[in-house]
Amino acid sequence: MAALRVLLVDDDPDDRDLVARCLRPDFGEMEITHAHNTATYDAAVSGEPFNIVITDFHLGWSDGLAVLRTVKARWADCPVIMFTGTGNEEIAVEAIKAGLDDYIVKAPRHFSRLSVAVRSILARSRERRELNDAEARIHELFNGVPVGLYRLSPRGDILDANPYLLSLMGISDPNEVHTLNFGDFFVDGLYYAEWLRRLDEQRVVSRFRAQWRRRDGITVWVECGAHVVAERGKIAHYEGSVEDVTDRVRAELEAERSFYQMRRAVDGTVQAISSLSEWRDAYTAGHQQRVAQLAVQIAERMSIDTVQRETVRIAAQLHDIGKVAVPLDILSKPNRLNEYEYGLVRLHPQVGHDILQHINLPWPVAKVVLQHHCRLDGTGYPTGFRGDAISMEARILTVADVVEAMSSHRPYRAALGVDAALREITEHIGSRFDGDVVKVCREIFAEGFVFDDPISLHSLTQ
Ligand SMILES: [Fe+2]
Repeated sequence: MAALRVLLVDDDPDDRDLVARCLRPDFGEMEITHAHNTATYDAAVSGEPFNIVITDFHLGWSDGLAVLRTVKARWADCPVIMFTGTGNEEIAVEAIKAGLDDYIVKAPRHFSRLSVAVRSILARSRERRELNDAEARIHELFNGVPVGLYRLSPRGDILDANPYLLSLMGISDPNEVHTLNFGDFFVDGLYYAEWLRRLDEQRVVSRFRAQWRRRDGITVWVECGAHVVAERGKIAHYEGSVEDVTDRVRAELEAERSFYQMRRAVDGTVQAISSLSEWRDAYTAGHQQRVAQLAVQIAERMSIDTVQRETVRIAAQLHDIGKVAVPLDILSKPNRLNEYEYGLVRLHPQVGHDILQHINLPWPVAKVVLQHHCRLDGTGYPTGFRGDAISMEARILTVADVVEAMSSHRPYRAALGVDAALREITEHIGSRFDGDVVKVCREIFAEGFVFDDPISLHSLTQ
């Protein structure tokens, strides 16, 4: 710790010794500068600052009041003690008014007070300095932070606004802000009313997004945070922050627009591919669309995320696309297929997967198509998938596919009907089909679900 720097202003060498003797026991690390005439005094007050100044009142070349004023003018925070035997009450009062920190009568019974006074004044001075530093830092932060900060009256009148907020509001004259209300900036007054309502109810509002109109007419997007400052149970004022999020909002709107554009493009492409495969095969016309219709409803009731739901929707519309590799006469054969023909049909999930994996879709559609004839016990095709290796999306698609296929007419058999289909999937819960998916599927039919009419582009051209 640096030594205590004391300036001792007294023309009497005995008195200066007396002060040094009084302080030395308590402040061992002390550096005393003696000012006993004009030259030594002037040199001292033109040099480095002191931690404390102790001055007599009567000086050969000046007096304690002049010393006090000079020191305070030079170092406003430097404490000054007057230690004198020649002052009086009026002098003490005048000195206190001029900023004197303590007045001690130079008499033996007060000597012990000197050290106590120095200690307490130094402590006070340190506290004041720390407080000033903290205030300066807060002030600097308020003025320099790149976020709008404000204080409002309970009626919304602006009491304080930092420079960033003034610039965000399009205000160049800082005094103008005190004539304005926070609500003046909201493009839509309903948003301001909603913000106030939430603040009133919740006491804290964060990231409330609204559009603002600046004083220069330019509109910007902002996010307002606020909290209530209460005193004695009543709202004293609101404090908070405002952030300009115009660029962020524009980017979000652009991303949203791109997303919907992409989604429309994907939907159109999926629809086109799905229709193409159905043009080839009149008997499965509309099959994929109707499987999608049921699969989407099942997916909506399952505990899966939106990416999985979207995967189910797309995969269901394309799941039989691999049948393009199966000769048409096999697909439309009115009799049972022989082993060779059935072997060809069994390839379609793999072919579908191989076609779709080259399309860079943001969903794992190809993998779900690959697994749509897999069964939990491993008896489906292609082989190699069983139990947990079969995704939830594929389990949903499988159930919807079986139910739709059994409910509809096929070249080699008449429609078996929905009841038979539901019995089939229920019988094979756990062995072939996922129990949760079957349960949800049955609920959907129990609530009156019916497949759309099996009309396809192909049948429309007949
Ligand atoms: Fe299939």
